[in-house]
Amino acid sequence: MKEKIQALRAQIEQLKAANQEELENLRIKYLSKKGEITELFNDFRNVPNEQKREIGQLLNELKNMAQEKINTLRTMFEQSQCAKEETDLSRTADPVALGTRHPLSLVREEIIDIFSRIGFTVAEGPEVDDDWHVFGALNFPPEHPARDMQDTFFVEKNPDIMLRTHTSSVQSRVMTTQQPPIRVLCPGRVYRNEAISARAHCFFHQVEGLYVDKNVSFADLKQALLYFAREMFGADTQIRLRPSYFPFTEPSAEMDISCNLCGGKGCSFCKHTGWVEILGCGMVDPNVLEACGIDSRVYTGYAFGMGIERITNLKYQVNDLRLFSENDVRFLRQFEHA
Ligand code: PHE
Repeated sequence: MKEKIQALRAQIEQLKAANQEELENLRIKYLSKKGEITELFNDFRNVPNEQKREIGQLLNELKNMAQEKINTLRTMFEQSQCAKEETDLSRTADPVALGTRHPLSLVREEIIDIFSRIGFTVAEGPEVDDDWHVFGALNFPPEHPARDMQDTFFVEKNPDIMLRTHTSSVQSRVMTTQQPPIRVLCPGRVYRNEAISARAHCFFHQVEGLYVDKNVSFADLKQALLYFAREMFGADTQIRLRPSYFPFTEPSAEMDISCNLCGGKGCSFCKHTGWVEILGCGMVDPNVLEACGIDSRVYTGYAFGMGIERITNLKYQVNDLRLFSENDVRFLRQFEHA
């Protein structure tokens, strides 16, 4: 017995394992139920009584030693495994350049930020919508040219389902599901069937706004838009409202800002007028409120809508709309610190 213990001690001192699997085999060889050390413990009952004390001690020492050895080897493997996981050898030697925010996203966030400071929250809706939400609820007569095939992309030739041509469709959704006070911004992509050029694209982005409550007036609209223009283009910015027409607002207006390039003196950018157009707006037509289930004798509202591309062009002097969707990194990188 004693010799066996000595021999096993010597073996265990030399133990080596190349991987976790080998280590597990060693554990089984020595310490499992049928392991060599366990067998010695089984033989222990045959040891003469006077030797039991000494042999018992040796056996225990052997078992502890084997256990410790195996534990040490296991920790070694676990540590080297961690080290391997931390060094990713597939990584490129050069650092990967981080992306930048798209200029349209930057400007959209800025518009939302400015209006959120005066209580507007964001509402979103589907890009594929039905005739009622895009046109019908918004007081477009059935024969209105905007419903024409020239402007609208219809889905599968179904004249009732279309790609929205403006995010006013989200406003009709909000008005049919909520009662005033309503104060929402509707950002999103819109589609119009136009030939692609520097000045037009078949899709672009809008932020529209809607405020419906008791006693909302045109003066409120004008003040909100003046605040917006000055936050966006600088404290010296002037605005002017020109009468216009939209089916869903009455009265309607288009808003110009003093040219932010020449400060209103006149330059080629503003065609020497000193003014550039930035958005459409007006008081929500009572027909629209009624169509959406809001009592037009109690409530009034204003709405406005702007193209994000247009605002971005003005703010960063981008003169070709196509740049926004070509994903040329030389263009996009210029907005890294914007
Ligand atoms: N929906 C209009 C457009 O797409 C913009 C607009 C919104 C005008 C709200 C007035 C009021 O051109």
